[in-house]
Amino acid sequence: MKKQITWKKIKSETQSVWGGETKSFPDGATQTPTVNSVAYAYKDLDEWEKVSKGDKPGHIYGRNTNPTVSVLEEKIRILEDAEAATSFSSGMAAISNILFANLKPGDTVVAGKDTYGGTSKIFLEFLPRFDIKVELCDTTDHKLIEQKINENCQLLYLETPTNPTLKIQNIKWLSDIAKKARALVVVDNTLATPINQSPLSLGADIVIHSATKFLCGHSDALGGLVCGDKDNIHRIFHFREINGASLAPNAAYLILRGMKTLALRVEKHNSNALKLANWLLNHPKIDQVYYPGLETNSGYKIAQSQMKGFGGVLSFTLNGEENVIPSFISKLRFAHAAAHLGSVETIVGPPKTTSHVENTSEERELLGIPENMLRCSVGIENIDDIIEDFRKTLESL
Ligand SMILES: Cc1ncc(COP(=O)(O)O)c(C=O)c1O
Repeated sequence: MKKQITWKKIKSETQSVWGGETKSFPDGATQTPTVNSVAYAYKDLDEWEKVSKGDKPGHIYGRNTNPTVSVLEEKIRILEDAEAATSFSSGMAAISNILFANLKPGDTVVAGKDTYGGTSKIFLEFLPRFDIKVELCDTTDHKLIEQKINENCQLLYLETPTNPTLKIQNIKWLSDIAKKARALVVVDNTLATPINQSPLSLGADIVIHSATKFLCGHSDALGGLVCGDKDNIHRIFHFREINGASLAPNAAYLILRGMKTLALRVEKHNSNALKLANWLLNHPKIDQVYYPGLETNSGYKIAQSQMKGFGGVLSFTLNGEENVIPSFISKLRFAHAAAHLGSVETIVGPPKTTSHVENTSEERELLGIPENMLRCSVGIENIDDIIEDFRKTLESL
């Protein structure tokens, strides 16, 4: 019998490459194949029944499970050191499925007010329609969040660092309070990645990733991944297999391939973003820099205690008016002006056309997002080239 690997003892660089991968594909292939089959045929009704009841491993129908997707789920499970994992067609599918699988009319969700735009849209528009109350607190006012948890809370939703203001929430401190109140703790770990932050080890119950971002890393596939204990993941998986927000095998293949270099890429994103943030901080045309790796950032101490690296995303505001933004964006040579983050290329864009495109300007103001803010997802290029590009562009304004 093959020896089982104790993944806990294996480092994240090795987990990114080998996690979930088997060594026994047909014809000795070394790479996980994309299995595009929707149905799985059984010669024996007995065996078919056992698989369909979950008494034997195997697959029945593509909306439920798929061999390529299962390898990806196992890789993220290992990286997040979770009991179980499941997948979705996008990060937003993961977030909405988790909320709707766990909440019922009369329940209350407590969250920070500046979550990703799609998430805040669910909080502001969709949950209230089902008579679910959402208490949106000042994201870093931990005392207020504690008070709201203790008043009434079935689900605490954290996003740290936040998109696009890079605010930091203390996962362990808030999870301890939520546990005492018997509330489920959900953390969106998209910006940090499992290389920089492990929410489950800090007390969270469920971790979400938009796999579309750093996990995939190449801007060519949408996906959502979720980790947690077996009971929670089974409940969420069951909701998804019925409503059908399943991850496509081709997307799973691309995310799997991207994840093999995850640890390597994140290390470079971390160091590039820190260098660019420090450079921007001293530039006369820059007003404010939002990055948790800066000692001047209000979230620095908490970030330092719960993150191994500060991530690849930063935001900044330009001195002067909003009208310099279009010129700045269009003059950059090595940055896409696009609504995305977490890719190998540097990407720049204002929240009003990226993270918070779904929100009105009044909602953005309420969320504390200045209209002259730019978000930058720093890629894995040589940082000297990126800084030179920014220097020339700022000079030309
Ligand atoms: C923090 C965060 N969570 C979730 C999502 C949603 O992910 P997707 O675009 O894969 O639906 C995004 C998208 O930008 C995000 O930034």
